[in-house]
Amino acid sequence: MTSPVSRRRFLTAAGTTAATVWIPKDVRGYGKAEVLARVTDTKAGAGVSKWELDTPALCVDLDKLEQNIATLRTALTGSKVASRPHAKTHKCPAIAKLQLGAGSIGICAAKVSEAEVFSAEGVRKILMTTSNVTRSKIQRAMRILKENREFIQAVDYPDNARDLSDAARAAGLTADVVVDVAVGTRSGVPPGDQAVALAQLIDKLPNLRFRGILGYDGGAQHIKGFKNRYEQSLQHLEPVVQTFEKLKASGLNVEIFSGGGTGTYNIVTKVPGFTDVQVGSYVFMDCQYLEIGSEHNESLFTDFAPSLTVMTTVLNTYFPGRLTADAGTKALTLNKPDPIVIGEPGFAYTAGSDEFGSIRYETASKQYKVGDKLELIVPHCDPVVNEYDVLHGTRQDRVEVVWPISARGKSQ
Ligand SMILES: Cc1ncc(COP(=O)(O)O)c(C=O)c1O
Repeated sequence: MTSPVSRRRFLTAAGTTAATVWIPKDVRGYGKAEVLARVTDTKAGAGVSKWELDTPALCVDLDKLEQNIATLRTALTGSKVASRPHAKTHKCPAIAKLQLGAGSIGICAAKVSEAEVFSAEGVRKILMTTSNVTRSKIQRAMRILKENREFIQAVDYPDNARDLSDAARAAGLTADVVVDVAVGTRSGVPPGDQAVALAQLIDKLPNLRFRGILGYDGGAQHIKGFKNRYEQSLQHLEPVVQTFEKLKASGLNVEIFSGGGTGTYNIVTKVPGFTDVQVGSYVFMDCQYLEIGSEHNESLFTDFAPSLTVMTTVLNTYFPGRLTADAGTKALTLNKPDPIVIGEPGFAYTAGSDEFGSIRYETASKQYKVGDKLELIVPHCDPVVNEYDVLHGTRQDRVEVVWPISARGKSQ
């Protein structure tokens, strides 16, 4: 991000574009009474303003959320790539159901404990992008599979494939798996012969069904500048594409070629054979993503609107040029860049203290007093969401729904 000023100006000015509203009936949220029970000021009534919530409070602007889901759908229409959003971002079954309702072909989960929650909430098409390598997690995966035959999991070692096949046989099941092909060095089997050999082993194992491959390039999502990101992503994925082609040439059924994320959602559409993009942050956005720049705006990623915010309350105003608020590390995490205070381009917010945020400023839009509220765009959405029990869905600042973040803390 070259100019923080322009970023803040954009955010201050960024309004909500009218978007189609679709909250399916089966999207579980707390009802009116429960919303009231969750806000201190019950006099505020249903449709309480987000500015009256006890803080720190996690909020999502429903217009922007829906707009982001619609934007992705429109962007992928006409391409051969579908969306399979990563639910590790929102950890919220209600949002997964919105995504599925808008045409996503399934969701991804990072951990078996997340997959358990989503599956129990009736989300069936789950692709787990991390391998289950311990006996206990393999058993948990089998229990999910027993209830939900649409569960797919990643594998990147031959021994793990054998263990899964044995466990599936013992449970009287056939487990669907994808081979995680490494892009970089984080996870996955190296592309080429080793990946092909693993897929062929899976194909022969009696209780596994080979469905395809993953090729996720974590290092590419936040590369600044679209051209740079575009070129590097395609270059990094080249060995995976060659692996995909070898697998097909060997006669295997490679119906899934999944990867990519918010930073590359409009780049992976150029990858031969690619089937679906695992976008996570696009629903919420955050300061990290705002900085990467988009195809039509080199310094600011404007494709998706920042829908997720944290409301915080001013606790101390005694000291010139300084304010203290009640959202610190446990509300915002220590990720960088620092949170952005909406509407206050002169504020520098630091969440360095567990329970407090400190603000330095030279200019402010008003004289702040204790009890005033501020609204923040978060540094990195995934870990922030993981800090909260509920997400307040607002429209024009009024709370319309309160969604449990059912998979928060599910880090196993
Ligand atoms: C396996 C995997 N897929 C996809 C994503 C994409 O997430 P995002 O769109 O938030 O960058 C991630 C993020 O860490 C990931 O680990």
